[in-house]
Amino acid sequence: MAVKKIGIVGAGTMGTGIAQVAAASGLNVVLSDVAEELLQRSLQTMDKSLTKLSEKGKIEEDKDKILSRIKATPNLSELKDVDFAVEAVFEDFDVKKKVLVELDQLLSPSVIMTTNTSSISVTRLAALTHRADKFMGMHFMNPVPLMALVELIKGMATSKETFNEVKSLTETMGKVPVEANDFPGFISNRILLPMINEAVYALMEGVGTAEAIDTVMKLGMNHPMGPLTLADLIGLDVCLNIMEVLHEGFKDPKYRPCPLLRKMVDAGYLGRKTGKGFYDYNK
Ligand code: CAA
Repeated sequence: MAVKKIGIVGAGTMGTGIAQVAAASGLNVVLSDVAEELLQRSLQTMDKSLTKLSEKGKIEEDKDKILSRIKATPNLSELKDVDFAVEAVFEDFDVKKKVLVELDQLLSPSVIMTTNTSSISVTRLAALTHRADKFMGMHFMNPVPLMALVELIKGMATSKETFNEVKSLTETMGKVPVEANDFPGFISNRILLPMINEAVYALMEGVGTAEAIDTVMKLGMNHPMGPLTLADLIGLDVCLNIMEVLHEGFKDPKYRPCPLLRKMVDAGYLGRKTGKGFYDYNK
């Protein structure tokens, strides 16, 4: 069935990006979050991003027309008639559990539910619902409007039909789907996060300054951003969380989170979102 109306729960960085891309691809969007203030900020972020993309000729449709397809609401119940759902709330099992159980009760049994989790087991999240065959991971990359990839993660019970429908919707949204199986960190974060963690070790041990580490990876390996700049973009709390999932999931010391990463999170230096991480964004 062709999806026309998509529900997104969570108006943080990822939910906002997903809502924008969905609306820009012609879908009607219901974006829900408990915090009204976050919804307003989300709409402003989309407005700014669409203005930028429009100036660069990357979208043809008028930005206000795109935004008019988005309904932002603090009431989860307004998702009741959507024909596809994406959960993009805070990366914490209990927070996701609460939302997924509620959504499962609210939505018609035929509706596919997906999670944008970056590391929690999709199989474990699917088991919270009564539609494990119609549930899977749809992992967008930050910043969503600019990044081509969506990692599609099948849970143990995900059906072939569900996978094909999500793959087709991903392409409709102008993204490139890549299939991954449900192991800690999937493909993306299994590889990316240990690299970032190692960069933090290199900084902690004084191998180089933050600038030197990032410059080596940018100019020496052609990465668009150095690993510490990227960690600041992702959020150091999110990075630590993913390293904990890898460490716990594989029980292998090679995934131990760097003590400096933990210390920065304890200090509240979470990267761009708090104005300070490995770099200072208040200057
Ligand atoms: N919407 C629209 N425009 C945006 C934007 C957005 N959300 N974010 C940035 N831009 C614009 C900038 O304003 C800038 O515009 P101008 O050229 O007019 O100034 C333009 O895009 C280019 O940005 P920058 O000059 O800052 O830099 P860039 O050329 O390096 O491109 C980037 C930015 C695409 C983000 C690039 O640096 C990049 O690819 N970085 C790596 C990102 C990455 O690895 N993401 C994955 C993170 S991991 C993840 O998401 C998974 C997880 O679970 C943790």
